[in-house]
Amino acid sequence: MSPSSPSSTPTGLFVSFEGIDGAGKSTHIAHLAEAFQAQGRVVTQTREPGGTPLAEKLRAMVLGDAMDPLTESLLVFAARRDHLITVIEPALARGEAVLCDRFTDATFAYQGGGRGFDLAVLTTLEQWVQATPALQGQALRQPDLTVWFDLAPEIAAARLADARAPDRFESQPVAFFQAVVAGYAARATAQPERFAKINADQPREQVWQDLHDHFVQRGWLNKST
Ligand code: TMP
Repeated sequence: MSPSSPSSTPTGLFVSFEGIDGAGKSTHIAHLAEAFQAQGRVVTQTREPGGTPLAEKLRAMVLGDAMDPLTESLLVFAARRDHLITVIEPALARGEAVLCDRFTDATFAYQGGGRGFDLAVLTTLEQWVQATPALQGQALRQPDLTVWFDLAPEIAAARLADARAPDRFESQPVAFFQAVVAGYAARATAQPERFAKINADQPREQVWQDLHDHFVQRGWLNKST
């Protein structure tokens, strides 16, 4: 692939991490960041909604304030635009590994699946927001890989029962998360080459092993880390 290719793969690497609340992604993202850094790679570890001062303000609204699904969708995509332009694209241009806790698949899963919001509107917003100047009009910015931590909503609910005060999403019933999982499944079916589904219903060490093996298979990590 030429250096002018729209893909971020030859220089930067863009990986997103997805799953329902309680799937346990956070510790693995931190672990993965350490593994990349141990191999001399510069890592930008970030999250959505959030990752910039403006996007973090929008995150607080989305997680805390009641609103209708269109408002919710506009806010998460507004946060994404700011994040993409000011953090993700510059980091990819510097050749870094960007490890992003959630990205647009979460919008299709939570607003599209969970809230039942119009997927055509989300697709339009995706096209507006992820067409960035760095791509020179050629394609949408998407992660090179999306790791989906797959967990049954009933198991996630049991894990969350012991957690801190739930936000507007964590407090949803199991049926909401079943629809979120269906939303993720639809995205993974539509773009299978971008998704790595990891069984999150295993001991933490085994989840890490599966995740690590996947990155080794793709040639992005050495076996030793
Ligand atoms: P977190 O708890 O994994 O940081 O994610 C924050 C919450 O925001 C989580 O419940 C999923 C939700 N969310 C959406 O509803 N839409 C989105 O586009 C994103 C990125 C997150």
